[in-house]
Amino acid sequence: MRPRKLLVFLVFLSLFCFSDPPFVLAQNVSFDLPSFNVRNLTLLGDSYLRKGVLGLTRELGVPSSSAGTVIYNNPIKFFDPETNLTASFSTRFSFTISNVNPTSYGDGLSFFLSPDNRTLGSPGGYLGLVNSSQLTKNKFVAVEFDTRQDLHFKDPSDNHVGFDIESLNSIRTADAKLQEIDLKSGNSITAWIDYKNDQEKLKVFLSYSSLKPQKPLLSVDINLSGYLREVMYVGFSASTDGSTELHLIENWSFSTFGFSPVRSNSSLHNVSDSSVTVSPRIPVSDSTNKNPKRLALGLGIAGPAFFCVALALFGYVSLRKWRSFRTQKSFKAEVLAGPREFTYRELKLATKGFHSSRIIGHGAFGTVYKAFFITSGTIAAVKRSKHSHEGKTEFLAELSIIACLRHKNLVQLQGWCVEKGELLLVYDFMPYGSLDKLLYQESGQSNLLNWSHRHNVAVGLASVLTYLHRECEQQVIHRDIKTGNILLDGNFNARLGDFGLAKLMDHDKSPVSTLTAGTMGYLAPEYLQYGKATEKTDVFSYGVVILEVACGRRPIEREAGTQKMVNLVDWVWGLHSEGMIIEAADKRLKGEFKEEEMRKLLLLGLSCANPDSTERPSMRRVLQILSNESEPISVPRNKPSLTFSCGLPLTLDDIVSDEEECNITLSPQML
Ligand SMILES: *[C@@H]1O[C@H](CO)[C@@H](O)[C@H](O)[C@H]1NC(C)=O
Ligand SMILES: *[C@@H]1O[C@H](CO)[C@@H](O)[C@H](O)[C@H]1NC(C)=O
Ligand SMILES: *[C@@H]1O[C@H](CO)[C@@H](O)[C@H](O)[C@H]1NC(C)=O
Ligand SMILES: *[C@@H]1O[C@H](CO)[C@@H](O)[C@H](O)[C@H]1NC(C)=O
Ligand SMILES: *[C@@H]1O[C@H](CO)[C@@H](O)[C@H](O)[C@H]1NC(C)=O
Ligand SMILES: *[C@@H]1O[C@H](CO)[C@@H](O)[C@H](O)[C@H]1NC(C)=O
Ligand SMILES: *[C@@H]1O[C@H](CO)[C@@H](O)[C@H](O)[C@H]1NC(C)=O
Ligand SMILES: *[C@@H]1O[C@H](CO)[C@@H](O)[C@H](O)[C@H]1NC(C)=O
Ligand SMILES: *[C@@H]1O[C@H](CO)[C@@H](O)[C@H](O)[C@H]1NC(C)=O
Repeated sequence: MRPRKLLVFLVFLSLFCFSDPPFVLAQNVSFDLPSFNVRNLTLLGDSYLRKGVLGLTRELGVPSSSAGTVIYNNPIKFFDPETNLTASFSTRFSFTISNVNPTSYGDGLSFFLSPDNRTLGSPGGYLGLVNSSQLTKNKFVAVEFDTRQDLHFKDPSDNHVGFDIESLNSIRTADAKLQEIDLKSGNSITAWIDYKNDQEKLKVFLSYSSLKPQKPLLSVDINLSGYLREVMYVGFSASTDGSTELHLIENWSFSTFGFSPVRSNSSLHNVSDSSVTVSPRIPVSDSTNKNPKRLALGLGIAGPAFFCVALALFGYVSLRKWRSFRTQKSFKAEVLAGPREFTYRELKLATKGFHSSRIIGHGAFGTVYKAFFITSGTIAAVKRSKHSHEGKTEFLAELSIIACLRHKNLVQLQGWCVEKGELLLVYDFMPYGSLDKLLYQESGQSNLLNWSHRHNVAVGLASVLTYLHRECEQQVIHRDIKTGNILLDGNFNARLGDFGLAKLMDHDKSPVSTLTAGTMGYLAPEYLQYGKATEKTDVFSYGVVILEVACGRRPIEREAGTQKMVNLVDWVWGLHSEGMIIEAADKRLKGEFKEEEMRKLLLLGLSCANPDSTERPSMRRVLQILSNESEPISVPRNKPSLTFSCGLPLTLDDIVSDEEECNITLSPQML
């Protein structure tokens, strides 16, 4: 980016800055989203955005159930404490509920208003709206479009609309059949919800067409004054219960009205300014190709490195780009919807002044501390880097996209802090650390990963990669999938981290040839050959990771007693050729696994690690295979051999011979 571009960027940032503080005055709020954009919405749980359409639950009947919530980012004022007026509101949205497997339904979706913008409810019959263990904890007013009869919540049928306040026991319900509507027909349905505070009436209309019917399906006499607070968020949630129901929202408009204008002109002017959302599209410049030398700095994020989001960019760009341009002071802008800015004081306090007793890891880009936030009682991981401010713009640009990613198997960025010449990143704390630590810990330690944990890791990782490759707005190629970059949360769910090397791609664009880093043993042959990262190179790395998980062996291991390096893929393939693939299973599991699952995982690992990239499955297919929705791929007895136009520049032994460890990162010089 040139300085002029930077200026434009700064102007955007400052605009954004001022648009953020919540409304000053009660005022009609109105928005119309003919299609969706991540910048207006917070996606929680399994929700995702694809081609402008919101998906609330996972497309696949993954073994576990799914719940997702989408919240409009800007808070909306429903009550004016100065005049004691409660707003009326009206909303219209089109949705589709369909089913991949028509025999398994539900549960349905809801439109809700809630004072809370962070809570995700449970999957199953809870519609992503309430927590299964604390049924009345979440505060909300909701209209549910329920496709399953939960007798527990006194549901009248598996095709009803209900009005709920802070509980899934609906205050009033109506069967959608009354208006000849089948919620799960797969057809697009438009819903209108109108609440008139002066009449104390809420009405819900449904139609297959986009014309609002005369007669409401559901009409409730209710005074919502006690529930509509000053600060509320609006959104949708949905859940499934081990089923494949899809919940899509296609478009949405919403407005509040009913406040009397009581203020002077000047302040009204102020309000109209702040009610305009300015969400700049942050320009992301691709400087990777221009100066390969700088890339060297971005390489080699190994060890217990904590998922630094795009810090690679931050590091190498800082070298030159901004030398001549040091005037930027106003970087306190909030570029992102979800993650927030922390103050340096806050982080210092939470880490006991960055005390050495709080260090939980070191990475190439800084030290990772465990942080306790006393006020909220939460724990986080704080990554501290002491690079200069110069590359921040690039950093923020990349960050703004990566931070918009939401998936339950990603390490979530909570926020950042740029102050006192330091850059700090705050992440969810992962109590079990990285997968490689758990997988290769000294024997005798208690929490060895059991088979169900391992299988769960394979499914979780497949799920997040499907999301990165296919389901988010811009395709993300992670490029550095390895056990060291996979963290485990408190429930042993896999969480993918370290997007330092990730590359965003617009769908339908051919992969850009870039010199890249990764870790030997996880790299697909064509990647080593051409340095080209694609979806399929990620699939290869995934294959290696699941083989590691199944076998408990590193991708490249020295053969006991000899100097020979053994490649895990070759080793497993060898056993497969001899018809003894099951022998590859981790001995430390002591046979405590389901043989069929183990065999399937090993074969799946081989098909993903097929040297021929065209033979590798997509991550979506992998996920389907793991959830028994698709047939496994047959794996040839002998490992296919590939010939490139010229030989590999380096053999495995060249690279490994002078290092004890298998974690060898390639530098571009070596390629
Ligand atoms: C709003 O209600 C509060 C308490 O309920 C009362 O003290 C205040 O005078 C009311 N304001 C107006 C403008 O009616
Ligand atoms: C429900 O609440 C419990 C206890 O606060 C919490 O541990 C759990 O994560 C919550 N579940 C969901 C789905 O948020
Ligand atoms: C609704 O209830 C509130 C108190 O919760 C009351 O002040 C208000 O007058 C009621 N609205 C109407 C229209 O009766
Ligand atoms: C919303 O989407 C549905 C389905 O795509 C379409 O039929 C409807 O016309 C759209 N409504 C508006 C207002 O764009
Ligand atoms: C708010 O909307 C209502 C109904 O659309 C309208 O009558 C009123 O004038 C609007 N108020 C303001 C301040 O724009
Ligand atoms: C509001 O605007 C009107 C005309 O636009 C003007 O006559 C009036 O003086 C203004 N009132 C205030 C308080 O500024
Ligand atoms: C907008 O409001 C601020 C205080 O919030 C005030 O200082 C400023 O003068 C107002 N702007 C206009 C144009 O009246
Ligand atoms: C949503 O985001 C887009 C792109 O940033 C922006 O142009 C639009 O104004 C936003 N819309 C609303 C209703 O916030
Ligand atoms: C939730 O709302 C608070 C303010 O009410 C805001 O600071 C925070 O960033 C919001 N969180 C999300 C995830 O939008």
